[in-house]
Amino acid sequence: EQVAEEIRTFPIENNEQLEAFRIAFMGRKGRLADLFDNLKTVPNEEKKATGQQLNGLKQLAQQRFDEMQEKLAGSQASGEKLNLDFTLPPVPNTLGTRHPLSLVREEVLRIFGRIGFNVSEGPEIEDDWHNFTALNFPENHPAREMQDTFFVQRNPDYLLRTHTSTVQVRIMENNQPPIRTIMPGRVFRNEAISARAHCMFHQFEGIFIDENVSFADLKQTVYHFAQEMFGKDTRIRFRPSFFPFTEPSAEIDITCLICKGEGCNICKHSGWVEIGGCGMIDPAVLESSKIDPEKYSGFAFGMGIERITMLKYQIKDLRLFTENDVRFLRQFESAV
Ligand code: PHE
Repeated sequence: EQVAEEIRTFPIENNEQLEAFRIAFMGRKGRLADLFDNLKTVPNEEKKATGQQLNGLKQLAQQRFDEMQEKLAGSQASGEKLNLDFTLPPVPNTLGTRHPLSLVREEVLRIFGRIGFNVSEGPEIEDDWHNFTALNFPENHPAREMQDTFFVQRNPDYLLRTHTSTVQVRIMENNQPPIRTIMPGRVFRNEAISARAHCMFHQFEGIFIDENVSFADLKQTVYHFAQEMFGKDTRIRFRPSFFPFTEPSAEIDITCLICKGEGCNICKHSGWVEIGGCGMIDPAVLESSKIDPEKYSGFAFGMGIERITMLKYQIKDLRLFTENDVRFLRQFESAV
């Protein structure tokens, strides 16, 4: 009985103790071996009963040994059994870097966030209504043609959105003014890939709709953005333009950051570079999205994130953004 108790309570918490247990009880010079040796001295008539008792103890010891061995093996499966050394210093953690387009996108959202714009998003696959019709594109407008738009399905048409203006429509359809929101996202156009063009790129759209919103508000907002993004010396220039969904419309230029107006290859020696389009939202567009054009007015602008990133970091080839060359990506490790 006493030996059985010892077998049950012998401390086994690691492999060394398990081995100590085996030697103490099951080894050739262990307790059980001793007891079996003593069997010789036991009177004949008790031999059978004592022998049975000893066999019981032997079984008990074996059982405990097997049980603990299994348990320890389980808890150390990833350790000693696999021959791993947990005391080795770890392999240094190689953190990735954020993509320059993500950095600029986040900066854009922060700049507009500080002047009260929230963030909205919409789907990349759109219908004709949100990409064209609600935005006042005439039936035969060239932008609807196959050479520009990737169609996913015809009749009814589904397409990859060609601009983020689709999201304006969705926001206007589902909200009443005041509306102040920035809509970043991917857009797609069927263009040959080159240093200056890609079939997939990023834009952000901004709209502000309220009572008495004027063209001066648009100009000041864009000017504020340009200074925050590119620095206090940055000037802007609006060139008259045309978009079906804005009236009047303008193209937005900023002073070339590379040559500061002196003239260089980036700005083709003009001192100015284009960063997007803008205008006052056409009353017909407000109306088709169920916003009262008598009561409200608003402005919209759309800018290219690649273009802004290229200017900000002096990147000369648009294809670098999608090639995933770590020598390129690593350079933005410490960029804001
Ligand atoms: N959607 C236009 C484009 O992609 C840009 C734009 C947005 C122009 C909003 C005016 C107002 O070219």
